[in-house]
Amino acid sequence: MTDTPVTVAFDGDLALVTVDNPPVNALRQAVRVGLVDAVKAVEESPAKAAVLLCAGRTFIAGADIREFDMGPLLPHLTDVVGTIEMCSKPWIAAIHGTALGGGLEVALGCHYRVASPSAKMGLPEVHLGILPGAGGTQRLPRIVGAAPAVEMITTGAPVSAAKAKAMGLLAEIVEGDLTEGAKAFARSVMDAAPPRIDRAPARPAPTEAEWGAMRKAVEKAAKGQMSPVGCFDAIREAFRLDLDKGLEAERAGFMILKNSDQSKALRHAFFAERAVAKPKAIEGASPRAINRVAVVGGGLMGSGIATSLLQAGIPVTMIETSDEAAAAGVGRVEANLASAVKRGIMGEDAKAKLMGMLTPASDYAAAAGADLAIEAVFEEMPIKQKVFAALDEAMGAEAILATNTSYLNPDEIARGLRNPARVIGLHFFSPAHVMKLVEIVQAKETSAEVLATGFDLAKKMRKVGVLSGVCDGFIGNRMLSAYRRVCDYMMEDMRAIEPIDAAMRAFGLPMGPFQLMDLAGLQIGWATRKRLAPTRDPKVRYVTVADAICEAGRFGQKTGAGWYRYEDGRTPLSDPWVLDVIEKAAEAAGRKKRSFTADEIQRRAMAAMINEGAKILDEGIAARPLDIDMVKLFGYGFPRWRGGPMMHADLVGCDQVLADMEAVAADDPGSWVVSPLLRKVAKDGGFGKLNG
Ligand code: 3HC
Repeated sequence: MTDTPVTVAFDGDLALVTVDNPPVNALRQAVRVGLVDAVKAVEESPAKAAVLLCAGRTFIAGADIREFDMGPLLPHLTDVVGTIEMCSKPWIAAIHGTALGGGLEVALGCHYRVASPSAKMGLPEVHLGILPGAGGTQRLPRIVGAAPAVEMITTGAPVSAAKAKAMGLLAEIVEGDLTEGAKAFARSVMDAAPPRIDRAPARPAPTEAEWGAMRKAVEKAAKGQMSPVGCFDAIREAFRLDLDKGLEAERAGFMILKNSDQSKALRHAFFAERAVAKPKAIEGASPRAINRVAVVGGGLMGSGIATSLLQAGIPVTMIETSDEAAAAGVGRVEANLASAVKRGIMGEDAKAKLMGMLTPASDYAAAAGADLAIEAVFEEMPIKQKVFAALDEAMGAEAILATNTSYLNPDEIARGLRNPARVIGLHFFSPAHVMKLVEIVQAKETSAEVLATGFDLAKKMRKVGVLSGVCDGFIGNRMLSAYRRVCDYMMEDMRAIEPIDAAMRAFGLPMGPFQLMDLAGLQIGWATRKRLAPTRDPKVRYVTVADAICEAGRFGQKTGAGWYRYEDGRTPLSDPWVLDVIEKAAEAAGRKKRSFTADEIQRRAMAAMINEGAKILDEGIAARPLDIDMVKLFGYGFPRWRGGPMMHADLVGCDQVLADMEAVAADDPGSWVVSPLLRKVAKDGGFGKLNG
């Protein structure tokens, strides 16, 4: 990072102002100071216009998010933008890469904007739980009108250069050299006074009914997140107030949102999403090239993994037990890709090309040329062991062997095979071509190089890889079990499931625990319970309801019934049969009926989940709290605006979580161990410090 990230050079009648603050030209304090100084230099020079350029891969990508947690560092960006706007000479923003957030706001302060054809422009602040705080909510609607501004700002989605030009956001798209094109444009406008954005309220204003309809739509899409509505309200002020008053209102809204827990959580998610790909365990290790993957199993999971690999441009050999089964697997991949075509994600040509990269086989010998094999067969130890043994025989001793197991120990799956350093878990989530999470499981002897290859592969597949150690259920499913267990206890005590599902939806999860089980299917959980039954601690409370439901052949949505009934195959309907089963189970277990409020349900559920997360950290299964947060965000629909369970604990206070967990444990002595790490962080400031 240079200490003079903004330089001014002169070229004839033009001043060339260049921002050079790698990697993405974020507007840290020195850049803001540099821009104000540049305006002064332009004013004092004989130059007739200024072209604002950026060095490196992109135009300014926004305010420096790392400065948000520091005190006020002057000058404020909104004042910097105002200073550019008030320059007596025209400024032309020359945009390449992405002009995002504060970056686009700086460009909006310029009097003209030109861009490369591949440039993108957006105001993504909403994803950080804030609103554009440097004039975006006031200037954009004055340039493009109400509805497009609402769309861009409340969704945070960027627009292409072509769309920006059509909206009136760009004066010109520059084919060829951007600097030269921008200079030519500047010369064409430098003799006229710079046009200024109208300071009167924006026009034409939508009607009250139109505002009402837009707000309703924004609220609905926000699903509990505050910033989209905050953005909307700020935009509306642009139609009521003159520019200066509107900017004041925007600043006030920005400060409120910036200090909110939701914004803190979303900023945590932004940085955690990047940090999760860089665990210490792969420091200094180089990934291997993966030119072909053998996927064993063409069922739902195997075909999803194969689809995702093909979409990453990696050829796949799909091995099944017979030619017919392999053909069925290929059919599933084809259906996945067909749905991508239908959704406009790819064309028929691209689909045909990917299908050409898929080779079906019914013999392990076909795996011979692959650099990596991923087994996605039935979740039974002897079956998986057989598959690994066959792969060991068919493939080179260096080829990476990955298991997609959700619960089983990869070391045991690979017991007795050559070269255990190449054994790894790659735990995908269903449907694997859609879900972003992959738990990258480090077995006892997995080498750093093999782990790094797992992370590299996840990135190529546009997935979020998270490092996990070996334990039953790894990070995600182990946390899920603790969450389900506490929900089961509340279910039996309350004799109800619906209030629990409703409370967890209100918390921000897409579904409650019972709905989720019905959607995922109850068989795997049942098999796991049976597997663990012989070693189950008799002191731990066991709720029999799920077993009774499975014994009745009700395995969830797919069978038309589970915890709920499904007459149309999709909509959960309350079922008195289930309530009766719960009542009988509770009676047999001698449980007194009691009730919990929605708040108590949420707190208990979170306490159990966070307590398990603390144990997972303590045991070294997860390296950092942020790894756990990313597992829950990308694999389990945990609301991003809560940052993940460990961040949530820090936001509500670990002392409160500890008190909730102690209450849960006191109700069922012997059933829970309160994590010593949770006790520790409750005293000394939360999980955040452990993120490093
Ligand atoms: N502030 C601080 N750091 C930033 C940053 C920002 N605005 N944007 C990116 N970075 C950092 C990343 O954390 C990463 O750091 P690391 O190497 O230490 O992990 C590095 O820059 C490179 O970022 P990416 O890995 O994300 O690089 P990509 O090339 O994949 O993506 C990007 C580039 C599209 C610009 C992406 O980084 C991005 O979307 N950035 C955030 C854009 C944004 O949200 N802007 C709005 C900021 S808020 C604002 O402007 C408020 C204003 O209204 C007042």
